[in-house]
Amino acid sequence: MGRFYITTPIYYPNADPHMGHAYTTVFADSMARYHRLLGDETFFLTGTDEHGLKLQRAAEKAGMDPKSFVDRMAEKFKRYWAMLDISYDRFIRTTDPDHEEVVKRAATEMYRRGYIYKGRYAGWYCVSCEKFYSEGEYVVVEGRPYCPIHMKPLEWVEEDTYYFRMSEFQDYVLHVLEEEGRVYPEQYAREVASKIRREGLRDVSIARPRERVSWGVVAPFDQDYTIYVWFDALLNYLTGASYQSDPDRFQRLWPSAHHVIGKDILWFHTAVWFSMLRALDLDPPKKVIVHAFLINRGLKMGKSAGNVVTIEYLLQRYHGSDGARYILMRIFNPAKDVEFTQDMLDSIYNSELADTYGNLARRVGVLAQKKLQGHVHGGRLDPSLEQSIERAINQYIKHMDEYRIQEALHSVMNLLREANAYINKTRPWEKEDPTRELYSLLETLRSATIMLSPVIPRAAHRLATAIGTKIESLEDAQPRPDRVYTVREAPILFRKIGRG
Ligand code: MSP
Repeated sequence: MGRFYITTPIYYPNADPHMGHAYTTVFADSMARYHRLLGDETFFLTGTDEHGLKLQRAAEKAGMDPKSFVDRMAEKFKRYWAMLDISYDRFIRTTDPDHEEVVKRAATEMYRRGYIYKGRYAGWYCVSCEKFYSEGEYVVVEGRPYCPIHMKPLEWVEEDTYYFRMSEFQDYVLHVLEEEGRVYPEQYAREVASKIRREGLRDVSIARPRERVSWGVVAPFDQDYTIYVWFDALLNYLTGASYQSDPDRFQRLWPSAHHVIGKDILWFHTAVWFSMLRALDLDPPKKVIVHAFLINRGLKMGKSAGNVVTIEYLLQRYHGSDGARYILMRIFNPAKDVEFTQDMLDSIYNSELADTYGNLARRVGVLAQKKLQGHVHGGRLDPSLEQSIERAINQYIKHMDEYRIQEALHSVMNLLREANAYINKTRPWEKEDPTRELYSLLETLRSATIMLSPVIPRAAHRLATAIGTKIESLEDAQPRPDRVYTVREAPILFRKIGRG
């Protein structure tokens, strides 16, 4: 049995999650469900990043104290993830006591080892990113430095601070990036490596004076400082794996850690995170899986750009979580930004879910009931369909194991297209005893349904129940001659959407 530990970024709960956050979260969820189907010991972690200036200010704006504010927002995130059928095993919050404990212990340990030292900081800061920008990284608008992501003016920060000696890890980080294949797609590893080769790895500030930023973990090495929000946030991945609280579990899980992130937070999850882990004598995660942005009207979808597509909208337009999840995964792209266009999403939904899959399921179900009273006995499958099923499974596994979910879905859809051609060609409705045709089609549908189940769990479950089977493991997707189907229902899985 394999092991699979998968995480999403922990999101800032200053506003509701939107389609961009769902993009990452549904991908991580689909991967977690796939690994459960393989029988792997799977642990899926998501949550909220609740400390820091951004949240402190959001709470002030809402007229609330920070803790009550994040309590309310964390519940909201959980409700959204429930609406999207996100099957996380733990929802971590950086205000959870076990996490604050991990932050303190990690900071103490790094301080003890001499990786943290006092200094003074002067530079430009973006509160929306919670990030310092150096010259060359920010853009200049009318003589003033602006955040390149949020297009908001940066704030000048000049204060005493504590630094993390990241520069010590330059060779190590370059080695991990260039030799170990821990970043997918590899282009992102090269991107970070060349930035480091160009500019060097500089020490980073990891604490802010408490009178400036009060909302956060108090630095264990100096009570007048708050731990920097990113340093705090990255450690959530260790807390989730029971670092320090359960060493056996940690040993089991950590070597299989997969972090799913958007490319905006690549630097933190490679240069900074690999250095922090090394300072604690820990290995880097097995994989950092990076994806590009969803864009809308030419800009990265986000609150600041004001071009957000809401999760409510997706759920409503695509008739619930399965429709929304499927289109998100069908457009999922690690390497390239994807433009949100309603026509494209509608047509994916209609042609793939409603027609190719849903309509086939409905036709086969109706025929099985009409022609064979719902009882379809096994026997030899149509050999070409049987081969196609086997080929689709092999392709699907290969793609899923390499995080290429869009291609995995294509393989399943190709199989279903063949099944549609098969039903049209063999015309089982004209036959007196279409057992062989319907059995071959049910085998195909069952197999496709198991493969689709990580992405559309509800519809998959519904169809499996309707034809009298269960979704338990990916092994069951293999075609066999000796099954017996009892078709109880011919459900309409996906209603088509009209124009407008
Ligand atoms: N709190 C930090 C992450 C800390 S992880 C230790 C953070 N939070 S965030 O709320 O801003 O979420 C960022 C993540 O949301 C991105 O990395 C990405 O996964 C997802 N996305 C937000 N908008 C997105 C798009 N428009 N497109 C694709 N993904 C997007 O950063």
